[in-house]
Amino acid sequence: MRSKIVAGNWKMNKTLKETEALLTELSAKRPDTEAEIIVAPTFVNLATAVNNLESSVIQVAAQNMHFAENGAYTGEISADMLLGIGIDTVILGHSERRSLFGETDDFLSKKVDTAMAKNMRVIFCFGEELQERQADRHFAVVESQLKNALFHLDASAWQKIVLAYEPVWAIGTGETASPEQAQEMHAFIRKTIDEKYGASVAQNVTVLYGGSVKPNNAEEIFSKPDVDGGLIGGASLKADDFVEIIKAI
Ligand code: 13P
Repeated sequence: MRSKIVAGNWKMNKTLKETEALLTELSAKRPDTEAEIIVAPTFVNLATAVNNLESSVIQVAAQNMHFAENGAYTGEISADMLLGIGIDTVILGHSERRSLFGETDDFLSKKVDTAMAKNMRVIFCFGEELQERQADRHFAVVESQLKNALFHLDASAWQKIVLAYEPVWAIGTGETASPEQAQEMHAFIRKTIDEKYGASVAQNVTVLYGGSVKPNNAEEIFSKPDVDGGLIGGASLKADDFVEIIKAI
């Protein structure tokens, strides 16, 4: 079922103490909303975040995980480790994982399969780079990212998939896709899914926008019909900014 979501991807920010402080402030200032609110702190602070938010509607997600069940994967985190501390939502395919850590569509499809096998929810990120948009290849790039990593799934698996369109040129740059650009791409994403899975899957999948969403642009972006919320980086690190963005939905 399509839902409204505002998720904060904290990336490699916030120590334990800073995490606790931000969660306390967020809990205190959280506005009433029907939207889901999710935060994704770094791995070492996930268990603390889960405990801290035990009686809160704010949910906790992981920023990544490995596809293997367990074993010799130094530095990696498994699905069971996340589930074991009460986390069943994971961000996969972030552009920083793709560009800085070499994660390919093929590698990501294995992670998605593991998440599905473990009944986890995936926030799957994808989006074109600047030169791809300038070369008018953005639709083709997004289509291939979706097809390569997700289109082997059964229709039923899509209940566990949230999409996050994050044009790489808008991440951390202060340059946002215009609301029209976001809407145009989100409509294209739904059309692409419709062609493969039909209207029901396409209309029910939640599609978030990410890339320099701030308090001053969130409302206009979220007002677009095919934009169901946002995946927020920098602005999710300040309680007041994140709260303003939640209010915008
Ligand atoms: P910014 O909001 O800092 O541009 O980051 C977006 C992002 O990468 C969220 O995953």
